[in-house]
Amino acid sequence: MKIAIPKESQSDETRVAASPEVVGKLIGLGFDVIVESGAGATASFVDAAYKEAGASIAKNTGQALKDADVVLKVQRPSTGGDNSEAAMMKKGAILICSLQALSSEKEMKAIAKAGITAIAMELMPRITRAQSMDILSSQSNLAGYKAVLDAGDVYGRSFPMMMTAAGTVAPAKVFIMGVGVAGLQAIATAKRLGAVVTATDVRPATKEQVESLGGKFLVVDPEMEKDAQTAGGYAKEMPPEYFEKQKKVVAEHIAKQDIVITTALIPGRPAPVLVTEEMVKTMKQGSVIIDLAVEAGGNCPLSKFGEIVDVDGVKIVGHANVPGRLPEVASSLFGRNLLNFLTPHVDSDSKTLKLDFEDETVSGTMICHDGKMVHPMLGGKPKKKEKAEEPAKKKTPETDKKGKNK
Ligand code: NAI
Repeated sequence: MKIAIPKESQSDETRVAASPEVVGKLIGLGFDVIVESGAGATASFVDAAYKEAGASIAKNTGQALKDADVVLKVQRPSTGGDNSEAAMMKKGAILICSLQALSSEKEMKAIAKAGITAIAMELMPRITRAQSMDILSSQSNLAGYKAVLDAGDVYGRSFPMMMTAAGTVAPAKVFIMGVGVAGLQAIATAKRLGAVVTATDVRPATKEQVESLGGKFLVVDPEMEKDAQTAGGYAKEMPPEYFEKQKKVVAEHIAKQDIVITTALIPGRPAPVLVTEEMVKTMKQGSVIIDLAVEAGGNCPLSKFGEIVDVDGVKIVGHANVPGRLPEVASSLFGRNLLNFLTPHVDSDSKTLKLDFEDETVSGTMICHDGKMVHPMLGGKPKKKEKAEEPAKKKTPETDKKGKNK
């Protein structure tokens, strides 16, 4: 069975779906792997490293995709125009990547029409067994870390308190809004750099997590927050009264902060506005806002996707694809997530990938199969197990303890 790793076609995508280490493991499972020439170049993985791991190198995307039974990508393939990557894939191929499926219905229909079986890794259920397959966690963790470094890059002062012969420098005050995977890593990173850290979130469970990392939790309304979390662990959209209260609490606090890192997201909805224009106006000259939610509309209405804007002396950073700003480690962890997803479905006798349609990690992520939409959130009927597709005997997924976030 052939697995292809094409070069990512989106201009701001620096990551690749598999590192040479992951390619070596795929070959060890019995697959043939073909990597497009230059696919790993921006992530510091040269063709020679893939070759050494046992892969063959394709001259271009078409050559990589044309006979592939499985395609591993970071971003979903293009579906229109002369260079449509979906059109280059063979009917029946299994595509595994971040599809952004729930916000791209048109593209999902085109992928279904091309006869591709598509797995949306961003929809991986948040069950313990699937933690090592969770691309949102592996990439958000890196984004949280990089957000602090990006803040330091544009901040004109330093993080730690310094007592020097020339005088004492006060520590930076860092405020993290949204304490999911990215927020927790941002807290830990800012603390390590010596900042005074505060944080807030709608989910009450986060208070203890913030405190365990040495941060101080900013409480908004514990009563309303009791019901703020879905069974899946995500935040719910809060009522307008909550936002009013949050605004008051945050407005007072934010005026005293040097760096604000916002990470608040609600799955399937635009990001909530947490830092209003009025709040930005109260912030000190030289302070910095890093808006990690900018791709979902932003937690600050003044942030601009892919830009750093200066609003009356406050720098608002809206970098695109923050995990892609750490391309080597982001690709390594992303690739391990894909490997951990597919390993339990490899039939060790036939050395082929046989997806178990009743496994939650497949039924929760499969968007289309056999030309039809199958994901319930996109109007499909979930695919039932077929006789010809008996599941492979389960193996323990390759779990990289260092890469885990939880
Ligand atoms: P996310 O990326 O969806 O959102 C980031 C944070 O923003 C969340 O903590 C959310 O509560 C917060 N937020 C949303 N609206 C807000 C508002 N109006 N004001 C303040 N904060 C707001 O969340 P992420 O990082 O995906 O994590 C969500 C939960 O899932 C966490 O508890 C995390 O530990 C858990 N998780 C579980 C996994 C598993 O069991 N396999 C894997 C990864 C995460």
